[in-house]
Amino acid sequence: MAKRVGVLTAGGDSPGLNAVLRGVGKAAMDCYGMGFIGFRDGFRGLVENRTMELDEPTLSGILTVGGTILGTSRDKPHRMLIGDKLQDMTDVIVENYHKHSLDVLVCIGGGGTQKNAYRLMQNGLNIITLPKTIDNDVVMTDVSFGFDTALGIATEAIDRLHSTAHSHHRIILVETMGNKAGWLALGAGIAGGADVILIPEIPYHAGRIAKAILERSRGGKHFSIVAVAEGAEPASRTYLEEAARRKQADRGRDDKKKARTDAETNSEWHPGKSMILAEQLEQLTGLESRVTILGYLQRGGTPSAGDRMLATRLGTACAALINDGLYGIMVAARGDKTEPVPLEDVVGKRKTVSPDHPWIDSARRVGTSFGD
Ligand code: F6P
Repeated sequence: MAKRVGVLTAGGDSPGLNAVLRGVGKAAMDCYGMGFIGFRDGFRGLVENRTMELDEPTLSGILTVGGTILGTSRDKPHRMLIGDKLQDMTDVIVENYHKHSLDVLVCIGGGGTQKNAYRLMQNGLNIITLPKTIDNDVVMTDVSFGFDTALGIATEAIDRLHSTAHSHHRIILVETMGNKAGWLALGAGIAGGADVILIPEIPYHAGRIAKAILERSRGGKHFSIVAVAEGAEPASRTYLEEAARRKQADRGRDDKKKARTDAETNSEWHPGKSMILAEQLEQLTGLESRVTILGYLQRGGTPSAGDRMLATRLGTACAALINDGLYGIMVAARGDKTEPVPLEDVVGKRKTVSPDHPWIDSARRVGTSFGD
């Protein structure tokens, strides 16, 4: 009998989500004659039976479209806000999985989604996941889709900021996403020729950044670009930084809010960190400083050619694996190929930038400071 495949997208949206839905769906239906149904708004769709028919016309024309036609959310099956209470909805999801006669549930998302999907697998469901995140911090895959697009957007932003920084003899801090992993700031910083790159994995000293900027100034370059990952941290906090951190921690104390703001990476938004650093650098160097926070621009809009390719490769491989009856796995990218990896090897881990990573080495060799 033809298999029936359920699919959902969860966590922060990412360019390439529609491309991957199209890849899984077209291959599942056209190559293997499977049934394909979508659940809206992440795991909540399975709880509330919010479904979407994913037939040929629905999947047509979405390859280049940003976001996800299914909608997404950061709802967790075991800790979902129902009314004003957090409830474990795992049993409801299991029940609805069977009600919809699913043979497998495809969960598309980042680290948090992998974890949530794994929990459902432990509750007896057939699960396959796909790695999505602009942060590129999912383990066991060369890369996750969304990263290439975000990298392009952040690089273009740095290119554009160069000319205005140069004209005004300013320091411009450009804040990228990446709360726990610095791939995006590092990649865009290298590609855009940032003078300083700050990532969560390498704690920075404002004084050392200022020193690097002043050295440039003495060499006749009176502007600097600092690429900052949103999760970059000072080696030790100043009074102002500590106050900002406390304010953020207070925000998280309200349980209801926390359920909404807890990112799948367990990330929280840290407003003002770049602002504080800009102020410090202005004081330490005497150069005017400005901040540009790229924020959601990095996640929105049409996916790059690379992400469309990757999403299509992963999506179609996913359909083939379903046909083979291989479950409890994530479909990973490995060189030109794709590879099933056990979900248990993926969950609870994060691919961060090791301080001796070749990208770091290359950046240092062209004179980039990491503020360390
Ligand atoms: O998609 C991952 C990510 O981009 C992180 O870098 C960021 O901290 C987080 O999502 C913020 O997303 P949201 O505000 O949608 O929770």
